[in-house]
Amino acid sequence: MLMFDSHINLCILSLVVLALPLVFLYRRKQPKLNLPPGQTGWPLVGETIGFLKPYPATTIGKFMEQHIARYGKVFKSTLFGEPAIVSADPELNKFIFNNEGKLFECSYPKSIGGILGKWSMLVVVGDMHRDMRAIALNFMSSAMLRTSMLKDVETHALLVLNSWKQNFKFSAQEEAKKFTFNLMVKNILSLEPDNPEAEALKKAYATFMKGVVSAPLNFPGTSYRKALQSRFTILKFIEKKMEERNQNMKEGSEGLDNDLLNWVLRNSNLTAEQILDLILSLLFAGHETSSVAISLALHFLPGCPRAVQQLREEHGEIARAKREAGEVELTWDDYRRMEFTHWVVNETLRLGNVVRFLHRKAIKDIRYKGYDIPRGWKVLPVLAAVHLDPSHFDHPQLFDPWRWQNNGSRGGSAGASNNVNFMPFGGGGRYCAGSELAKLEIAIFIHHLILNYQWDLAEEDQAFVYPFVDFPKGLPIRVQRNVYL
Ligand code: HEM
Repeated sequence: MLMFDSHINLCILSLVVLALPLVFLYRRKQPKLNLPPGQTGWPLVGETIGFLKPYPATTIGKFMEQHIARYGKVFKSTLFGEPAIVSADPELNKFIFNNEGKLFECSYPKSIGGILGKWSMLVVVGDMHRDMRAIALNFMSSAMLRTSMLKDVETHALLVLNSWKQNFKFSAQEEAKKFTFNLMVKNILSLEPDNPEAEALKKAYATFMKGVVSAPLNFPGTSYRKALQSRFTILKFIEKKMEERNQNMKEGSEGLDNDLLNWVLRNSNLTAEQILDLILSLLFAGHETSSVAISLALHFLPGCPRAVQQLREEHGEIARAKREAGEVELTWDDYRRMEFTHWVVNETLRLGNVVRFLHRKAIKDIRYKGYDIPRGWKVLPVLAAVHLDPSHFDHPQLFDPWRWQNNGSRGGSAGASNNVNFMPFGGGGRYCAGSELAKLEIAIFIHHLILNYQWDLAEEDQAFVYPFVDFPKGLPIRVQRNVYL
């Protein structure tokens, strides 16, 4: 027994002796990484709970505040089950966006792919992303915006606004959602708002959305499970529409539908499954975001009466000129004249931060400003942390549309559209395909709102980050018809 033990000891000793030079060689070959400072927290969960804890949308939240104060604008952590680098640094964010596909790649958590679909635009990379992006850009090209979309945006904004009753309390967020949803389903599937199919789709979509924002727990009764079921209902509906269109094409009667579905069926090589996920992701990206932006504008403006007054003057002037010219519908030139409104839109996006942070991963070992970002690590550019940083924006918590005067010189170093400190729509090869449509929607909605109504916040409500931005009470407002114009 003793001999056996000493034999084992001898073996272990020889192994250690043999392994030592190997360990030494390995360590010499692997230079010590200079990772950004930070902590990793609990195994797997890491600091995810703190990172995702809800906080007011006009702040960066306790987690980011404390981490930036302690570690600086770039720090390491463990988030969503993976080692991660978090960036509140505008230069690094720009570097990440500009190197999409070369050094970094879009990498949303699996639960998002599970619900939005494996062919969702948020999930796909490489050639498939390039093809889908081309379709989305074509769908929202500036020619489309100037012609058919401008008219549609105005019609749908008026439809919602004209349904408002004086002195009634209602949810501004729900109304904004109605507007953007109706607009999207009209342009994607040619569904009119009063169509029962559109209503059914809206219901299924609402359940679907609850699951997108919930914890990905796939058990009976959970929001996530219900959302997966709604996803199935929505997909069945879109599938039925596809079959109808394909049938029409076979019979040579393509119908009058000048919508995205027809365009994709005629001009792309996407499979049915890919088309379904593409449509669902456009519905999601194009409806949730701009409706939140409109709600944020409605929330911020009553706190800044001078901005409301300046909007009244700008839109009153446009309306008067149109009356004199005998014109009714808004034109692209009218839209271009909404200069102050564009500052209001920028300021709303800066302060409200509809999309807080993006998911990326490093696909190569990267060295940036002396720090190492190892291959495979998650990288999270936090757009909101730059927009609310006092070193980039004076009094960042203040709703101040005039900071965008002279192309945003008070808001940062350069013009809004070319400003590394202002990236509400992301950047690089994944820059929001609907950014121009979103700005158009917000401006046209404000135009008719300001001309027709005065509004008050009927109840105190505040946007929170869940991490999707949402008003817990739906932003209840009351309106009065304008009589002054
Ligand atoms: C205020 C409103 C909006 C904001 C703040 C916003 C923000 C963003 C951001 C930050 C991204 C980049 C995502 C990433 O890099 O991972 C993005 C992507 C995208 N957005 Fe928007 N968006 C808005 C409205 C819209 C609208 C109205 C549409 C119309 C359908 C749209 C369609 C898209 C699409 C298709 C992408 C994916 C682009 C790609 O991967 O190439 N967005 N959006």
